Amino acid sequence: MITAYFKQTRLVAILVAVLMGISGYGKAQQKEFKPGQLWPDDKGVHINAHGGGFLYQKGTYYWFGEHKIAGGAGNRAMVGVHCYSSKDLYNWKDEGIALNVSDDLANDIAKGCILERPKVIYNKLTKKYVMWFHLELLGKGYSAARAGVATSDKATGPYTFVKSYRPNPGQMPFYAVTTPESEKVNCTNPASKSDGFFCRDLPGGQMARDMTVFVDDDGKAYHVFSSEENFTLDLAELTPDYTGHTGKFIRIYVGHQTEAPALFKRNGIYYMIGSGCTGWDPNAARWFSATSIWGPWTYRGNPCKGPGSETTYGGQSTYVLPVAGKKDAFIFVADKWTPKDAIDGRYLWLPIAFKGDDIEINWLDSWKLDVFKK
Ligand code: DGJ
Repeated sequence: MITAYFKQTRLVAILVAVLMGISGYGKAQQKEFKPGQLWPDDKGVHINAHGGGFLYQKGTYYWFGEHKIAGGAGNRAMVGVHCYSSKDLYNWKDEGIALNVSDDLANDIAKGCILERPKVIYNKLTKKYVMWFHLELLGKGYSAARAGVATSDKATGPYTFVKSYRPNPGQMPFYAVTTPESEKVNCTNPASKSDGFFCRDLPGGQMARDMTVFVDDDGKAYHVFSSEENFTLDLAELTPDYTGHTGKFIRIYVGHQTEAPALFKRNGIYYMIGSGCTGWDPNAARWFSATSIWGPWTYRGNPCKGPGSETTYGGQSTYVLPVAGKKDAFIFVADKWTPKDAIDGRYLWLPIAFKGDDIEINWLDSWKLDVFKK
């Protein structure tokens, strides 16, 4: 009798535990952002999506980023691009690996290559999800400097690798009619180091490293990338299906080594936040604004304020995330890299404050979405 009672109780306990596991009940819910701290996903594991980008669709946010492994080897792509989903931005569900690296060592995205800063956009014409990333071929350090693209029918993947290349071979930059001849790149007599790299790479396509993609209100998409040995940023138009470059592009802040671009738009003004170029070490962020995507883009200094602002609080920009349904609500998303143990990299999410049309970022130990008014 007593044995039967205990057996029954044990059975009930097991059943409850299984049900709690399935429903996620009992897992600590995140209720605020804690920049720089461990950020557990729905399984209690620190989110593994570095150099990330976001996509919002029908009430769900998707977070795509570099899946890193432990140790220094984690700076190379041993697994692929990890995807998470969330309804509230605090709690993220592990959706698994959206793009797997290949076991075929001859493949462009062979295991052990460098695959950084993946960003996904949705194409309404083809109904495909398009993932762009910075790709360095296996064993070639950072010399390949290619843009890679993969597509999927589902946001969470699996994504199929399409191609990788250096954008815009043979194409000269697009200039406004008012641009003086003296400001245009002259490959007969390059005026600067950066112009020299541009001219060197003209036949085969421009170098493409740190990057983001941005879709404008009219559906046109743009790829922004560090080019010319990281000396200059290019902003290039993508084809209507988002899987190629049209050949139209501009060069931004020539010769000033901008990395980690993140673009957003508010009240008809385009904003870009980026970083300087110091490897994995943090440096001061920088921001730019423009009233046309084709520029001119004006350098506006460091958006970060207060202690730690000279090193972006230890981080480097990767994305600016608009909060759905809220006006003027944009989150600055940065990575705090830990190259010696790549998997331990942290995320710095901070709200962007607007002073008129200027922006400011301040450090917060923790914060909630209610910092945004509506
Ligand atoms: C800085 C870049 O922003 C990162 O994405 C990565 O490429 C590191 N440099 C490598 O040193």
